[in-house]
Amino acid sequence: MLSRRSFTRAIAAGWLSGTAGLWSEPALAQRALVEAELPQDMVWLNANENPEGPPQVSLAAMQEVMPTAWRYHFQEFRDFYRRVAGSVGLSSSEVYVGQGSSEVLQVAIAAFGSASHPLITMEPTFELPAGLAGAFGIPVVRVPLTSGYYADVKKLVEEAGNAGGGLIYICNPNNPTAAVTPKTDIAWLVSNLPPNTILLVDEAYIHFAETPEMESALRYVREGKDVIVARTFSKIYGMAGLRVGFGCARQELMSRMWPYRSGVISIVSARAVMAALNDAQAIEEGRRKRFTAVRNELCAWLRGKGFEYIEPHANFLMIDVGRDVHEFSQQMARLGVAVGRPFPPLTNMLRVSIGAESDMARFRNAFERVYKG
Ligand SMILES: Cc1ncc(COP(=O)(O)O)c(C=O)c1O
Repeated sequence: MLSRRSFTRAIAAGWLSGTAGLWSEPALAQRALVEAELPQDMVWLNANENPEGPPQVSLAAMQEVMPTAWRYHFQEFRDFYRRVAGSVGLSSSEVYVGQGSSEVLQVAIAAFGSASHPLITMEPTFELPAGLAGAFGIPVVRVPLTSGYYADVKKLVEEAGNAGGGLIYICNPNNPTAAVTPKTDIAWLVSNLPPNTILLVDEAYIHFAETPEMESALRYVREGKDVIVARTFSKIYGMAGLRVGFGCARQELMSRMWPYRSGVISIVSARAVMAALNDAQAIEEGRRKRFTAVRNELCAWLRGKGFEYIEPHANFLMIDVGRDVHEFSQQMARLGVAVGRPFPPLTNMLRVSIGAESDMARFRNAFERVYKG
């Protein structure tokens, strides 16, 4: 039997597969691993959260609805779904709103994976889909990234073809590498999907990407292709704790996902999203600009010090620490800075989320101290 300490270590190390709840970003975010003897004023740069938090308009909307939270507010959800769908140019029958995009990934895997239809995923990437598939008894095929740290679309297609079909999962930009799979590769992938194959594109971090190589796969949803796109309000909208995400797909695919729906999200979260969507463009642009400035500052510092990193297109980046990152991150934690978990096989790379400017100053300081040993 595992002790509590070794159990939490095992989670963080990814040794315990097969239990879906263990695979969410917070569960994976290494907080458990570093639970002992941490400084009080810890800086959390380990879960790609957004310290700006929910926009002001969302905070006001939540406060307003709180006293009426004794009601289910079911009648509001029709309009809510319409608004969410409308924000990406779709109709309500083409979206699935869930508790974070985690729920969207879960229902997509439940609907389109099976013992004979594996999940075909890139590696390394966000572990939740592979973890869930394992829990559901769905085989998992892992395809290494390209040398540019993004999805190898040719190999993903080859594996799906070999399996006689399946669910291909792509994270774009990819967590943890923050690299973008170029739009021409995505286009090739969509037009070369083998029979019985669905493509699931996770665009949790798309709002942070400014490169012209980044293009949303939503256009393929609008064209009625075998494509599902997952989006979230956890990242640029700073609402991770409110748990809102949505999936997009043509109606026929959606109707296969709906049976797995567990219910509506909280009215407090729904109102927060509605308020933010009224001002979506300004919110996204302002936040992207501020994030990019902090990210650029970190990149300039890394270059100045001669540290190698992967060019980032998300609110995190990966740095080559030249040795095993597990011990490196333990030492960082002891100095009061929590960074991302290891992502094998990139075991020499450290993932750090972009936080507030003061957080990044703490990060730079701790990083240099640990690096120098
Ligand atoms: C790539 C990716 N997809 C999905 C999620 C899940 O986010 P949420 O369930 O909060 O929407 C995360 C969380 O960090 C993520 O990194």
